[in-house]
Amino acid sequence: MKTVLVTGGAGFIGSNFVHYLLENRNDLHVVVLDKLTYAGNLKNLSRWEKDSRFSFEKGDIAEKNDVLAVFQKYSIDWIAHFAAESHVDRSILGPEEFVRTNVVGTFVLLETARTTWNQNFEGKRFLHVSTDEVYGTLGESGFFTEETPYAPNSPYSASKAGSDHLVRSYFHTYGMPVVTTNCSNNYGPFHFPEKLIPLMILNCLHGKNLPVYGDGKNIRDWLFVKDHCSAIALALEKGRAGETYAVGTRNEKNNLEIVETICKIMDEHFPEKAPHSKLIQFVKDRPGHDFRYAIDPSKIEKELGWKPVYSFEKAIRDTIQWYLENEDWWKEILSGKYQEYYSSQYDTGK
Ligand code: NAD
Ligand code: TYD
Repeated sequence: MKTVLVTGGAGFIGSNFVHYLLENRNDLHVVVLDKLTYAGNLKNLSRWEKDSRFSFEKGDIAEKNDVLAVFQKYSIDWIAHFAAESHVDRSILGPEEFVRTNVVGTFVLLETARTTWNQNFEGKRFLHVSTDEVYGTLGESGFFTEETPYAPNSPYSASKAGSDHLVRSYFHTYGMPVVTTNCSNNYGPFHFPEKLIPLMILNCLHGKNLPVYGDGKNIRDWLFVKDHCSAIALALEKGRAGETYAVGTRNEKNNLEIVETICKIMDEHFPEKAPHSKLIQFVKDRPGHDFRYAIDPSKIEKELGWKPVYSFEKAIRDTIQWYLENEDWWKEILSGKYQEYYSSQYDTGK
């Protein structure tokens, strides 16, 4: 039995990854370390509460004592590091927490692993989950690959770039078996409602405006979270130490296309409210808004044999269905502090 530490396992991708591991493996003990910030939600993990293969520890990755306590309590073999401040718009409103969690937190985790493992890395793995946003923006053509130079444009992506460099240095300096994945925008169940896709689904449901930044032409390469989880599991176990892998599914869409697709599916569910597209409202653009992200995933496909299995057409429908069936989950979020964020970000009564 190996013990896997999943940092940020109560967040969107981290919780999907815990589901993926516990559904597919019987040889792992999963320990989640999470601070439970606004984005962390224990309900995301409630189905495993009574499973002996699962443990939860509340703690802050930027606090040495919190991280050390986990390493002293469990004999950690593998680390899947998701914990981060993850929302570009919040990083524009207040960047400090991004540097603290993403840069300092990643350092504390690396250093605690190195010292606890006593530089004996036999059977150990450290998988760092990062983003394609570290590469900056693309024009109309070209793709990000593992060779693309770093050029982050937001405090969020700059702090993730800093963490990627620290992770890399632990391989070159100490020989720690680290692997980094840089993926594109995820979507799927448990996505916090302030990000584009869940925000649009819930605003459609509530008859609220659908705020599209700028002209809606910015392009993202949308990756279904369950495909992302299979890529991370492969990279964690089989990725070559010191390597990075770009993860995406060649699924480029501009923001307006995404919003219109959601509107059409919502029209099918609620024909009496059609067309939902009448709610689309173009709003002030995000400062430093990257135009296009697109990934060439050839390396992970060829080297690790990773294959995504979900089509966008099906996965976006499944995602909408999940939000329709899980009202209790999002109602609780929408009724809390989320409202304060929403008003400061969108400055709108609707
Ligand atoms: P999320 O914001 O939904 O979840 C982050 C989790 O980390 C939460 O559970 C939160 O409580 C926890 N956390 C935050 N600060 C912490 C701290 N100091 N100590 C311990 N836990 C802390 O994020 P997500 O969308 O699930 O993203 C997970 C990872 O994937 C992040 O590293 C992010 O940069 C990366 N990523 C996300 C996307 C995406 O589309 N969501 C795309 C590329 C990369
Ligand atoms: P987001 O989900 O915040 O992810 P990221 O900034 O990491 O790519 O945003 C995805 C895209 O959607 C991005 O181009 C910004 C745009 N967007 C809007 O147009 N309106 C919104 O209300 C939000 C949250 C995002």
